[in-house]
Amino acid sequence: MRKDVDINKAAQIIKQGGLVAFPTETVYGLGADATNAQAVARIFVEKERPSFDPLIVHIASMEQIHSLTTTNDNRVTELAKKFWPGPLTIVLPKSDLVPDVVTSGLPTVGIRMPDNEIALNLIEKSGKPIAAPSANKFGRISPTTANHVKKQLKDIDYILDGGPCKVGIESTVISLNPDGFVILREGFITFKDLEQVLPASKTKTSSAPLASPGLLKSHYSPEKPIYISDNQDFTSIRKILDSIEPTKKAAFISFTGIVHEGFSKTEFLSTKADLKEAAVNLFDILHRLEEDSNVDIIIAEPVPGDGIAKAIMDKLTKASFRYNN
Ligand code: TXA
Ligand code: MG
Repeated sequence: MRKDVDINKAAQIIKQGGLVAFPTETVYGLGADATNAQAVARIFVEKERPSFDPLIVHIASMEQIHSLTTTNDNRVTELAKKFWPGPLTIVLPKSDLVPDVVTSGLPTVGIRMPDNEIALNLIEKSGKPIAAPSANKFGRISPTTANHVKKQLKDIDYILDGGPCKVGIESTVISLNPDGFVILREGFITFKDLEQVLPASKTKTSSAPLASPGLLKSHYSPEKPIYISDNQDFTSIRKILDSIEPTKKAAFISFTGIVHEGFSKTEFLSTKADLKEAAVNLFDILHRLEEDSNVDIIIAEPVPGDGIAKAIMDKLTKASFRYNN
């Protein structure tokens, strides 16, 4: 089947205040003209997203950042040189051009330049900065293909199909304190990557008035129970398996290549503990297991460590939160 990739049509829809799902390098976004409050309000309705959770604004040029923020902090230029286009969102003081609905009333706005040709073309052709959260229902699994978007969002105007996302997990969100950066949400760009450009802030808390809602405890959740196993104590897996009814089937998500008995299926985030590979596969595997009628519960091997590992573990922990509490 031919893919839907009519960027002119998509740009027209954005200009007219419609909603377009589009690929980025991280996950698919659900986009609207960031300067059109009514269009942005519809994103919250379609996603069933609470109004306290602010959106990221996507840009294609550094000129756009100047119209969206009041900052002339040259650390932003340094960060942009190193990481943009790419999976880094910087929270900055917003200008009046950004409606309150985008930032949930905060005086700051999260901005990033995505590393994806289709996304950059869409922003350029529409002539608008594009506000976009991940294109999933609130709290559910993020989309890394156009089909994942179709599954969850039925009433949007267009989906641009750019194939699978090459990074697979959301951008790192940071804010800037006078003495350095603070990470608000872990992502593909790590603490170590950022430290090459800026010092980490000594005050652990951010100057942003609200802790990032990306820190909500439950998120990224499949519609069936998911648990994280304990690699030091495999009897915990046995216990979970023994506690489910014999007719129920469990799937295992392996990170190191380990396979266990007693599972009806094993999916591999990676076969060799490769973090980039695991990031690319994570949401697609969760979507597939959610759809699989031969799977009733999911158990995932833990992904230990810093950097991308921390970001992946954060997603798994949040995905399993509602089933553990
Ligand atoms: O990779 C990504 O970041 C994807 C793609 C589509 O760009 N977008 C994404 O958006 O993950 P979303 O809405 O699912 O998550 C955005 C998160 C918010 O939940 C919040 O944690 C943080 O970014 N954020 C946005 N604006 C903020 C602000 N002004 N202050 C603090 N945190 C903010
Ligand atoms: Mg999201």
